[in-house]
Amino acid sequence: MRMFDIIEKKRDGKALSDEEIEFFIKGYTKGEIPDYQASALCMAIFFRGMTEKETVTLTMCMARSGDMLDLSRFGNLTADKHSTGGVGDKTTLIVAPIVACLGGIVTKMSGRGLGHTGGTVDKLEAIPGYRTALSEEEFLSQTERIGIAVIGQTGNLTPADKKLYALRDVTATVDSIPLITASIMSKKIAAGSKNIVLDVKYGSGAFMKTTEDAVKLAENMVKIGKGCGRNVTAVLTNMEVPLGSNIGNALEVKEAIDVLRGDQDDELTRVCVVLASEMTAQVKGIDAKEAEALVRGVIKDGSALEKMKEWVAAQGADPLCITDTELLPSAPVAYPVLSDKDGYITKTDAHLIGNAAMILGAGRASKEDSIDPSAGIVLKKKPGDYVKKGDVLCHLHTSDVSKIPDAEKTFRSALSFGDTAPEKQELVYKIIR
Ligand code: URA
Repeated sequence: MRMFDIIEKKRDGKALSDEEIEFFIKGYTKGEIPDYQASALCMAIFFRGMTEKETVTLTMCMARSGDMLDLSRFGNLTADKHSTGGVGDKTTLIVAPIVACLGGIVTKMSGRGLGHTGGTVDKLEAIPGYRTALSEEEFLSQTERIGIAVIGQTGNLTPADKKLYALRDVTATVDSIPLITASIMSKKIAAGSKNIVLDVKYGSGAFMKTTEDAVKLAENMVKIGKGCGRNVTAVLTNMEVPLGSNIGNALEVKEAIDVLRGDQDDELTRVCVVLASEMTAQVKGIDAKEAEALVRGVIKDGSALEKMKEWVAAQGADPLCITDTELLPSAPVAYPVLSDKDGYITKTDAHLIGNAAMILGAGRASKEDSIDPSAGIVLKKKPGDYVKKGDVLCHLHTSDVSKIPDAEKTFRSALSFGDTAPEKQELVYKIIR
């Protein structure tokens, strides 16, 4: 078999065989196929697409390119979730203990943040002592004991994706639905859960800017995940504006705890209830309405919060940090940004607010940057709120006051004002099962 023929075949719009896809993934992972041929094939896939059968094969070959976690001992109870990434997205911190409380076996490998988006691993590391690197043995025995473990991605999970994603990033071939699908789903398949809920975000702070593109990606991921033998649901959620009020690692942990304390009925809570209900429905084989009552029940009676304490303690953190959030990292400065006009807030652009939080130290401009767990933004006003000149729009939290002018400028550029309240936006656009 020759890589030249595979590239030519896809260039001419033909479907590749299982053997050809396997030849490409194995050869590229081993370093036997050079980057220039792999990029030519990615570009051909970008223009010509892939059939469902080709995408399932590509996903499975990529999943098998490295270690695969065997969770078969837990039967059909294993539950994983994936978010396509956003600003203020602390849903895993809330949803994972809820589902574990309801009998799900929640195992999750999460990523770090880059650019305007945050990562779950960074948020968890804001809890002093929390270990995101567990050995496979520790990971599995903790899961067996308490039904939940959330760690960073391990060294040899889907090496084919690591190589291909880095290549796609520099060859303008990221935005291809079959390639994104295989990239995301191969990681989920290798991580071993039988049940997977995908939180596919759309809007300015998301990878997919429009609902149309997000629906296309979500439908494809659900189809391909099922083709790989998993139970997959996608929930399409709004990321035009940040999710919740807090953006930044320790600030987001605090907000997640507030939700689990049950004293919130805000948009963040509502999105988390939908995600947790879909996961619970998969695990228990019940419908989502029935699952929702169970989800609300474990928030109300405090058992989800107790599960969070048990979980962070198992991973090395002091559970007192969950009881008393004053023990979490806290920035020395909380600078108020005041409104310079009267009017309704019509938009708080998620991408720009994510950038402002990054400037304050909450995120990374490049992979090598370190982050400040206490830095970030607490929003005091949301779209639809009427503000008067001098009202506090947000607090900028930082340990470095020299960052405030740039962060404030970026934050102000994220806001739009109008004379009338904007239309309320859908929080959950669609659920695809
Ligand atoms: N996220 C991934 O993990 N892979 C992609 O291809 C795009 C986004």
